[in-house]
Amino acid sequence: MKLTPASADAQNHLCRVVVLISGNGSNLQALLDRCAEQTCSYQVVAVISNRADAFGLQRAAQAGIAGLTLNHQRFDSREAFDKELMRLIDKYDPQLVVLAGFMRILSPAFVRHYSGRLLNIHPSLLPAYKGTNTHQRALDAGDAEHGVSVHFVTEELDGGPVILQAVIPVKPADNKESLAARVAIEEHRIYPEVVNWFANKRLLIDDKGISLDGKLLPSGGIRQHAANGSCRS
Ligand code: GAR
Repeated sequence: MKLTPASADAQNHLCRVVVLISGNGSNLQALLDRCAEQTCSYQVVAVISNRADAFGLQRAAQAGIAGLTLNHQRFDSREAFDKELMRLIDKYDPQLVVLAGFMRILSPAFVRHYSGRLLNIHPSLLPAYKGTNTHQRALDAGDAEHGVSVHFVTEELDGGPVILQAVIPVKPADNKESLAARVAIEEHRIYPEVVNWFANKRLLIDDKGISLDGKLLPSGGIRQHAANGSCRS
């Protein structure tokens, strides 16, 4: 795409985002789709996968965005992989790094390097069900509610302060596939929203906690109930 001076100027003001993936990339797609909207204040400047066969790389190519693979199996240690990953990411000079189904535990050095500008999405109402198999675990526990969380990343796996959660009811007929499908709808709705908040400098994190538009969020973040879209904090 050839940029006119005006559109090039607009591009320069957009928050630069690097997205890390490992697989399907449906959250990446939601982030890319939002870029087409006029109210979007970020641009995805690169997509990096630790797996060459990640479908998300095809999504990046389709959108005309640099897609790179860094195979973790080529490295002797987590630290060596993360060091090279940081080098690759920083070539794109991002203001924000977004984990979108990036299934790697990150080293402390990596997390520190992107402190305050590293987001993750996790398919549970954190702090419940860190790790994998979250939908089945919510069903097995007989939970009445399930959902998804977007949070700043800290050194704890799926830890770190929550910004926004979308809550869905668990229905009697649900199985893990039906839950996953309804959670995915919420993921694709809330992740671009939070990234855009960050891009618009509406979202800040400091030693007091997270604030949105200057107002400190409660420690569990904002909870949105998907059924009626209402917001309670
Ligand atoms: C999403 O459900 C995301 O919440 C989850 O991986 C999936 C990636 O799907 N992330 C984690 O479990 C992180 N602990 P996608 O590749 O279609 O976006």
